[in-house]
Amino acid sequence: MEVSAVILAAGQGTRMKSKRPKVLHPVAGEPMIKHVVRAVSGLHPHRLVVVVGYGVEEVRRALGDEYLYVEQEEQLGTGHALLQARQLLEGKGDTVLVLFGDHPLITTKTLGRILDEHEKESAAITILTFHPPDPTGYGRIRRDRAGQVVGIVEEAAASEEEKGIGEVNDGLLCFQEGWLWPHLEKIEPGSQGEYYLTDLLALAVEEGERVLALSPEDEEEALGVDSRIDLARAEAVIRQRVRERLMLSGVTIVDPPSTFIDSTVRVGEDTVLHPQTILEGETAIGGGCSIGPGSHLRDSKVGDGCTILHSLIEGATLEEKVHVGPFSHLRPGTHLASGVHVGNFVEIKESYIGPGTKVGHFSYIGDATLGREVNVGAGTITCNYDGERKHRTIVEDHVFLGSDTMLVAPVSIGAGAKTGAGSVVTKDVPPGSLAYGAPARVKGKVKSELEGEGSHS
Ligand code: UD1
Repeated sequence: MEVSAVILAAGQGTRMKSKRPKVLHPVAGEPMIKHVVRAVSGLHPHRLVVVVGYGVEEVRRALGDEYLYVEQEEQLGTGHALLQARQLLEGKGDTVLVLFGDHPLITTKTLGRILDEHEKESAAITILTFHPPDPTGYGRIRRDRAGQVVGIVEEAAASEEEKGIGEVNDGLLCFQEGWLWPHLEKIEPGSQGEYYLTDLLALAVEEGERVLALSPEDEEEALGVDSRIDLARAEAVIRQRVRERLMLSGVTIVDPPSTFIDSTVRVGEDTVLHPQTILEGETAIGGGCSIGPGSHLRDSKVGDGCTILHSLIEGATLEEKVHVGPFSHLRPGTHLASGVHVGNFVEIKESYIGPGTKVGHFSYIGDATLGREVNVGAGTITCNYDGERKHRTIVEDHVFLGSDTMLVAPVSIGAGAKTGAGSVVTKDVPPGSLAYGAPARVKGKVKSELEGEGSHS
């Protein structure tokens, strides 16, 4: 049987004390609702409907256009929220799975098990229940003497005796579509004016329909996020799952608790992640790399065999066998070709650095293109900003820049040229020439007399 899913995500989440819609608070780098969408997408649902309310546009933008959205203008309870999806699902004959957008820990495996049991037992409703350390606030599961579920009683309506029940409703429900809609219409509002989806259970039991209750293998899957404390708990669980997935795929993580990896990150086999490393966003790291200790990568691509030590790398691309650090900062638009060596205290942005080039010590390279096998002496700086605009610097292949060269952009240094230590280069240097001084003068062709003067590799 086909399955359609509805994710309820209209609530603001007042206990989060936030202007941001609750379901958009990030968990392991992604809005929490994305984790729910991913888990349910693993079942390849026929239709996936998201019920939105608070922050409609923000939620739609975060999830994208590949899902169906319905708006619940007033948040009148979970029963009312599900009713908004009726016109999109009625008559399709699918099994309807209802999930909460603030339960990011649910897994595809558990959802699959619920669906299988629901269909096998021909249940009208299947629910997921668990036993939290403190059941306060949850809908309590009422069972008869034979142990059959006979209903769910919400906290607001529960008697003192019912409040003592330890088994609670997770919120996830599975329905036979043909049964669902006509019965959903019949739900009456509770004392607080809310239409409780959970009232459907008593209706089904009254009619002699089968109601099934299952528990997740791991009860942490049932954690819902109501406060920032729950958010931190969910974060810890997902981060541990990400680390375990990577370790099982061949990545060494020397100190898992101090290594933070977003669920979107990819890492290749035989890469070693050293302590206090943070990998965020759309970062993809190849195989056989050594990352960290103390490195922070965001939205960056790193090829095979790279080494990164104590550095911050954002929006950068590193080809194979690149070395960075310690203590360097690669900013967006940095592209290091294979075999590049970036050493200590170097900042690079919007620049291409050609194969085998070395930028060893204390440099700023911005808005520049450096060719292959260039040697950038210690303290070299591209002076790319004239106070109003940015300008580019071009350094061709096999150039040797002496220590403390100031490249006042726009400027270009021709292939095989050299600059002396402390040069302030304000004019283009022709290929094969030697330039020196402040401002640097061109002094004929490269000769051996200034070779290596004050320059470091
Ligand atoms: C719900 C369950 C309760 C269960 C608990 C588990 C009902 C009536 N109660 O209670 O049995 O133990 O979850 O966490 O279902 N939402 C809407 N529109 C609304 C109301 C809610 O979209 O009008 C969405 C929220 O955005 C959220 C989800 O439904 O994603 C759950 O809503 P919430 O108000 O947190 O439900 P609880 O009162 O906790």
